[in-house]
Amino acid sequence: MDTGETYEVKDMKLAEQGKLNLEIAEANMGALLKIKERFEKEKPLQGIKVGLALHVTKETGILVRTLIAGGADVAITGCNPLSTQDDVAAALAKEGVKVWAYKGETNEDYYRYLKHVIDFKPHITIDDGCDLVSEIHTKHQELIPEIIAGCEETTTGIIRLEAMEKDNALKYPMIAVNDNKTKHLLDNYYGTGQSTVDGIIRATNILFAGKTIVVLGYGSCGKGFALRCKGLGANVIVTEVDNFCALQAAYDGFQVKKMEEACKLGDIFCTLTGNKHVIRTEHIKQMKNGAILANSGHFDIEIDVAGMEKISSSKRRVRPFLDEYVVDGKKIFLCGEGRLVNLAAAEGHPSEVMSTSFCGQALAVEYCVKNKGKMPIKVIQLPEEIDDSIARLQLDAMDIEIDKMTEEQKKYMESWQEGT
Ligand SMILES: NC(=O)c1ccc[n+]([C@@H]2O[C@H](COP(=O)([O-])OP(=O)(O)OC[C@H]3O[C@@H](n4cnc5c(N)ncnc54)[C@H](O)[C@@H]3O)[C@@H](O)[C@H]2O)c1
Repeated sequence: MDTGETYEVKDMKLAEQGKLNLEIAEANMGALLKIKERFEKEKPLQGIKVGLALHVTKETGILVRTLIAGGADVAITGCNPLSTQDDVAAALAKEGVKVWAYKGETNEDYYRYLKHVIDFKPHITIDDGCDLVSEIHTKHQELIPEIIAGCEETTTGIIRLEAMEKDNALKYPMIAVNDNKTKHLLDNYYGTGQSTVDGIIRATNILFAGKTIVVLGYGSCGKGFALRCKGLGANVIVTEVDNFCALQAAYDGFQVKKMEEACKLGDIFCTLTGNKHVIRTEHIKQMKNGAILANSGHFDIEIDVAGMEKISSSKRRVRPFLDEYVVDGKKIFLCGEGRLVNLAAAEGHPSEVMSTSFCGQALAVEYCVKNKGKMPIKVIQLPEEIDDSIARLQLDAMDIEIDKMTEEQKKYMESWQEGT
């Protein structure tokens, strides 16, 4: 590990490659760059310390640069032990960014690095999964009076924050960046859809065509993934616990089954639920020889990996990010240790997708600064016009123009008198 006063990364010699990857990401993040250009001129974040616990990827690097362009002081660590891109972490450290992260962090290092960000005494926190907020609320409440607000990137984080709010445990306002329409559409649906396929293929090099793929959870992420599996020629089975989502899956043309049945049929299983132990040992025991398991939900608890270890007679790593377990004489393969497969075994979402997600983060931070002291201590949404401005920025980046309503149309849409 290379350690300095304001960083701890795998290897500073990787910085050159990281710089190139940041350059490639930037070229595909036109919408975020527009915000960066404006931030450079207006400096809306002057004097603000932003502490981040996000996947340390090339795209997050561009967000970090955007916040710094706005005048912020930034400190960052990862939000998952397997998602850091070591070259990018090195390049950021070389640029002078405060960064603590490496791919394959131990649990101890993960929390030690979160503590570095906490010791930086951020005014605004940005989380992906709520670990930073949770650490501050449980162990460092003395920081809370100086914290303006926090921003949360993912569904699992929002679920945790809403539980905190319900328990009256939430002590500063939280912006649900995850709930932006632009975030759900591009990141959860298109992004997770594609990068989950990418992660499973990189881990296994398996052909999807002709396989039976069981998609556990038909929310934004599951829908995107199921559609791409179908496009690659797979037979898709969906499992759900929500009537409406199950109905939607059925009308989208997928088989919907209970897991106790689907577990016998699948060649590949992928969890995208945000829930715990969705694949359990009773399912694993009934799977076919050679079945592949992957998770793309936030935490590594969707598959009961500890349970699988207990019932298996052997376990070995057969290639990077692929472990073979032998259960009752059958080989069962697990991708990326059951951690989010798209970030563990691949590179996460394409830069273009993260551009819109991080427009949400950058504009949320600016919103927090502008509305300091005025936001309720709750999980709150960004105003719709900010979300709409992100869609516009992305359309601009894609060189797409759309129609405007005529005056007659505007009047009609606001009136009720005109009928049949
Ligand atoms: N891999 C990534 O890069 C990435 C990106 C975005 C979100 N996420 C994570 O993916 C997860 C899902 O996010 P989302 O936005 O799709 O959430 P969502 O709430 O839209 O969808 C989750 C779905 O899972 C279903 N579900 C819950 N328990 C289930 C069970 N036991 N069996 C079957 N289905 C069940 C729910 O009914 C729901 O329809 C979250 O953990 C989120 O944080 C990951």
